[in-house]
Amino acid sequence: MQVSDDRGSWGSRAGFILAAAGSAVGLGNIWGFPMQVGKGGGAVFVLIYLACVFLICFPILIAELALGRSSRRSPIEAFATTRPGTPWWVVGALGVMAGVGILSFYVVIAGWTLAYIWFAATGAVVGSPEQIGGFFGAFVADGAKNVVLSFVVLAVTAGILLAGVREGIERASKLMMPALFLLLIGLAARALTLPGAAEGLAYYMHPDWSGLTNPAVFNAALGQAFFSLSLGMGAMITYGSYLSRTANATTSAAWVAGLDTAVALLAGLVIFPAGFSIAGFDPSSSGPGLIFAVLPRLFGTMPGGELFGAAFFILLSIAALTSTLSLLEVPTSALVDRGWPRKRAVVTLTLAVGALSVPSVLSQGAVASLSTLPGFEVSFLDLMATVWNNWALPIGGLLISIFVGWVWGADRAIEELTAEGQTFPAAPLWAFLIRYVCPLAILFIIVMTARGMFAG
Ligand code: PFF
Repeated sequence: MQVSDDRGSWGSRAGFILAAAGSAVGLGNIWGFPMQVGKGGGAVFVLIYLACVFLICFPILIAELALGRSSRRSPIEAFATTRPGTPWWVVGALGVMAGVGILSFYVVIAGWTLAYIWFAATGAVVGSPEQIGGFFGAFVADGAKNVVLSFVVLAVTAGILLAGVREGIERASKLMMPALFLLLIGLAARALTLPGAAEGLAYYMHPDWSGLTNPAVFNAALGQAFFSLSLGMGAMITYGSYLSRTANATTSAAWVAGLDTAVALLAGLVIFPAGFSIAGFDPSSSGPGLIFAVLPRLFGTMPGGELFGAAFFILLSIAALTSTLSLLEVPTSALVDRGWPRKRAVVTLTLAVGALSVPSVLSQGAVASLSTLPGFEVSFLDLMATVWNNWALPIGGLLISIFVGWVWGADRAIEELTAEGQTFPAAPLWAFLIRYVCPLAILFIIVMTARGMFAG
């Protein structure tokens, strides 16, 4: 197949690292990670999460980049051209579906963060913890407003993508990422000097080992790690496909995984000390509203809180945007590789995702009960997040590790990764992880979770 002229490439390795880290760092780190730590019992979740990142996800990140760089194709074509005439392209197709599915609820939360820039700047969210929680509940229940906000997020994403890989994604990431780091470090420094900070730190750092017996916690940690690193759906295959052969993919992968993990851990250092400084704070029951309930309270007690608050939600919107870019880029690149003009692909997908986002918006409001499916005591938005993050991404990761480790072959992947004289000293360890540890560990966690669900 001919490679379309609309395929792009990165301008530099630093540009690639920032864009890939921009894809990885997002709502998953700042909104999702603290929420999952809260649900998963604190420090023990953090430890399981870190094990998942380094033993399972980091090797898969390298595998995705190698496959993308070697095939120079979007996910479906990457599998199809590496092993023509086999059904492996289905793994790419699953990734394209995951991209659309995840984006459809992701833009809803990104819309909330956009609105909170305004709320924080104008000091609209004030009062007792109950009042602040009530404000969030009333706001997300406003379907019309939230549909508009989600569409705004999608429109901005589409606008940047239309500019192409180098001018669009890379340029935006270069500006946005450094600002994000600085703001987050400032907020952590502030949160750590609050009165209840020590209790929050203890919750975050001293594990309660009883959590180790619950397979659902492992499943949530694994899903969170995949989601946070943008893995299991071919986003990193796509980004790897724009990477030059002279750029070292393994050290780039280490940067991306390291930055992503650092931002998630920093977000916890903001949320838990701040949360525990509020009397009666219960991290396990806060759900999607956790940061929206805790942070305005924190800002409200700070001099210049409006400024800090607005800065934080700007940061979060930026982080979300560099991730929505990559979520939309996966299905876009699939269509571009099929010969679609980039513009038509972006516009069509934007309309489809926009339509799909409406049930997630409405599931937070008046028709919430209608969208709560029998047997699932969660909203449609939560259900989407669970299906895609906890199941589709790990299953995608399982299949990618089998494909790269066994079908394409770890040796061939290492050849690709060491092309043009690049070094990869940990190659034997990586081959062992991708062939044995990744597939077996993911399979084990999936089977245990499924058994627990059916037994329960
Ligand atoms: N990694 C992003 C986050 O943590 O918010 C979400 C994401 C982006 C997931 C891109 C998957 C993906 F392909």
